Amino acid sequence: MAPESDHMVANAEGQTITRPFKKTDKKLYIESYGCQMNFADSEIVVSILASHGFSTTTDSKEATVILMNTCSIRENAETRVRNRLSQFNRQKRENPDLIIGVLGCMAERLKTALLDEEKLVDLVAGPDAYRDLPNLVSTVVSGRKAVNVLLSREETYADINPVRLNPGGVTAFISIMRGCDNMCSFCVVPFTRGRERSRDPKSIVNEAESLFGQGYREVTLLGQNVDSYRWNITKKSEILNSDEETVTFSQLIEKVALVHPDLRVRFSTSHPKDMTDDVLSVMSKYENICDYIHLPVQSGNSEVLQRMNRGYDRSTYLERIASIRKWMPEAGISTDIITGFCGETETEFEDTVSLMEQVGFDFSYMFCYSERPNTLAERKFEDDVPERIKQQRLTQIVALQRELSHRANRKAIGKVFKVLVEGDSKRSSELVSGRNSQNAVVVFPKGNFKPGDYAKVKITNCTSGTLIGEAVN
Ligand code: 5AD
Ligand code: SF4
Repeated sequence: MAPESDHMVANAEGQTITRPFKKTDKKLYIESYGCQMNFADSEIVVSILASHGFSTTTDSKEATVILMNTCSIRENAETRVRNRLSQFNRQKRENPDLIIGVLGCMAERLKTALLDEEKLVDLVAGPDAYRDLPNLVSTVVSGRKAVNVLLSREETYADINPVRLNPGGVTAFISIMRGCDNMCSFCVVPFTRGRERSRDPKSIVNEAESLFGQGYREVTLLGQNVDSYRWNITKKSEILNSDEETVTFSQLIEKVALVHPDLRVRFSTSHPKDMTDDVLSVMSKYENICDYIHLPVQSGNSEVLQRMNRGYDRSTYLERIASIRKWMPEAGISTDIITGFCGETETEFEDTVSLMEQVGFDFSYMFCYSERPNTLAERKFEDDVPERIKQQRLTQIVALQRELSHRANRKAIGKVFKVLVEGDSKRSSELVSGRNSQNAVVVFPKGNFKPGDYAKVKITNCTSGTLIGEAVN
């Protein structure tokens, strides 16, 4: 006889089947949306639950607990998550013991709404509440609601060893700080991820060493604003504990670069108002710190930037770009751009176009402005640029960026780059794909190369998104 808590369900043909599925079974399925930080957080979540007996599955049908690590940055990010939650709720009709939980920014922003009003989840945990997850799951198993959306001023999960969700991979994320104190007027992140706090540098270096030991060859240090990383020193340069070393961001990247010359170091995201030349100087000093900066501009117009509360104007941004080029003439530079922010006129938008041309970004992430509840912009300005215009402006800059990327790639033809091989190319198993220091994707014949190897590759051709080449000695 089947154990009591097994499920008897009907399959498509109407036959009754038994699922070996108990309320107390510990099989976790996790899906992540949004920024790289969320993907890194999911690895922390898996680690916390693994230490309480959970194993992970890549098949949601097998899971007893489904967690969605969510993003609130734009309305359409939330819509995607709601649709996915509805799908999982259909699965729950077959398996009523299935636990569905929401993590991350939507959990924090909507608090109990997804549980009480929308009835889409059983469990809600904000970004600083992941240590409480085993307890929250037990609460649901015992038939009660489980919510923890407390934000913390200290939590950095420094002592947690993330369980990598791509074992045997070549590249990994390391979270170096949490939260954001910037208050850009369009952005919901300061509300969903709380105050900025930096993680103990020793735990960061340990994590990098351990990753290198496991075969990883590239780490990306993550924070909403990495330039304001600081350990044991306040924004006003006061030292907190005289027995402890102080560490700034430039010192941190140097420490990580010294882990091993074959461990590449990247970081994201830099902020134009905080990015200092000492960071650029350290970058240019170490071959294994990649010559690549993601420097979100958001708009090329100083008045728009002021309404966005970004803390810099067009000329300061251009001065930062000039400084990057001075320290690293070959650096890859990418950016984020928003079209149709509150009050953006045609002339103001044209400034974004001209800035893109002037800088010649290698890559851009581009978005239509999406008003977020309770942000400074929502309270202060009208979301008055029609959707159609936002979209039209977006289409225009997407086309321009494609041209700029193609132009940048054409300039690479004939040059030789050191490429870290990441795996087979999507198009053919005869080709491998990797990235150069400047973060461009490079595809070339596989030969004897395997993931984690470095190859010297001469570029012979390109598309707007990929450099094509061949290995040279
Ligand atoms: N609408 C559109 N884009 C946004 N971003 C942040 N908030 C919004 C918003 N409300 C974009 C910014 C940021 C990137 C991560 O997302 O460009 O740099
Ligand atoms: Fe949002 Fe600005 Fe902080 Fe980035 S720096 S997370 S855009 S508030």
